[in-house]
Amino acid sequence: MKTRVTEILEITYPILQGAMAWISDCHLAAAVSNAGGAGIIATGGQTENWIREQIREAKRLTNRPFGVNLGLAIPADDLNAMIRAICEEKPAFVTVGAGNPVPFIETFHASKIKVVGIIPNTRLAKKVEAAGIDLIVVEGTEAGGRIGKLTTMALLENVLPEVKLPVLAAGGIVDGRGMAAAMIMGAEGIQMGTRFLASKECIVHPQYKDEILKAGDEQSVSIGLSRNKGLRGLKSPFTERYTQMENSGVSTEELSLLVAGISEKVAKEGLGADGMNGMVQCGQAVGPVKEILSVKEIIERTAEEAEQLLKNAYRLAAES
Ligand SMILES: Cc1cc2nc3c(=O)[nH]c(=O)nc-3n(C[C@H](O)[C@H](O)[C@H](O)COP(=O)(O)O)c2cc1C
Repeated sequence: MKTRVTEILEITYPILQGAMAWISDCHLAAAVSNAGGAGIIATGGQTENWIREQIREAKRLTNRPFGVNLGLAIPADDLNAMIRAICEEKPAFVTVGAGNPVPFIETFHASKIKVVGIIPNTRLAKKVEAAGIDLIVVEGTEAGGRIGKLTTMALLENVLPEVKLPVLAAGGIVDGRGMAAAMIMGAEGIQMGTRFLASKECIVHPQYKDEILKAGDEQSVSIGLSRNKGLRGLKSPFTERYTQMENSGVSTEELSLLVAGISEKVAKEGLGADGMNGMVQCGQAVGPVKEILSVKEIIERTAEEAEQLLKNAYRLAAES
């Protein structure tokens, strides 16, 4: 499947594995790239040395292009040191999200690293395009992890007519049906997180994977949106407590303390006996994720299903 995304990133399928803090390491990223998509190493909460080691190991595991994510929401010890490490170790591309990517574009371009913006609205999409970014991922509120307020569908409707750059869709896509729908809207690729959580190569705690397989759409909740710090995952004793506090008007600082460290803890230890370790972060379209597959199976099935559906749509249009 060829689009401007496959050309720009030099990959076979226009499918990105979204960064997932404490989860998408070099092994998952390299597996995705080896399967013809583009894997992304998440760096949230990590050190400069960890980033260097991960990029070096990923280069040992694959000779295909992969990316590194610079998430601006998770406080870094030293953002400049992280950026220096990325520039020196040179992954093919960087995704920048949860903030404004513009100040970072020139620095990465100077090191011949492509820059992909993870974008929650039209205003920022236009801004990053004007600043010379290479690709745009619009990420809807259906996504797992940090979220904005607009849906993927609304973002595709709003953003696509306003930019010339290729756009990928993220948030609520777990198979070829979602991929085909996004591409009919005009997207030239997709980014998935939730689907890759239930993969053989994903290192997340086994209970995390079980929760994903068991979950349906009604278990999906978001917390923190009223403070512009939205986070989506599955309902748990922790999310109930957080929501109670959010609604009772406690300060945003106090709420930030409550979520500090939960991503790492749940990814490594699961929810804990009382469910208070945190939340299983995943997107709203978790229902169809019913089995743990290899990354290669996920990518090939998604691309084949999307291709088939796009051909059917073409046939329908031609016959009418
Ligand atoms: C557990 C989890 C952790 C995430 N962490 C990050 C992150 O560190 N940086 C980032 O840019 N996006 C992060 N995301 C968002 C994903 O990269 C991706 O855009 C999103 O999962 C797409 O929506 P989906 O979950 O419906 O597939 C995370 C998502 C999940 C599920």
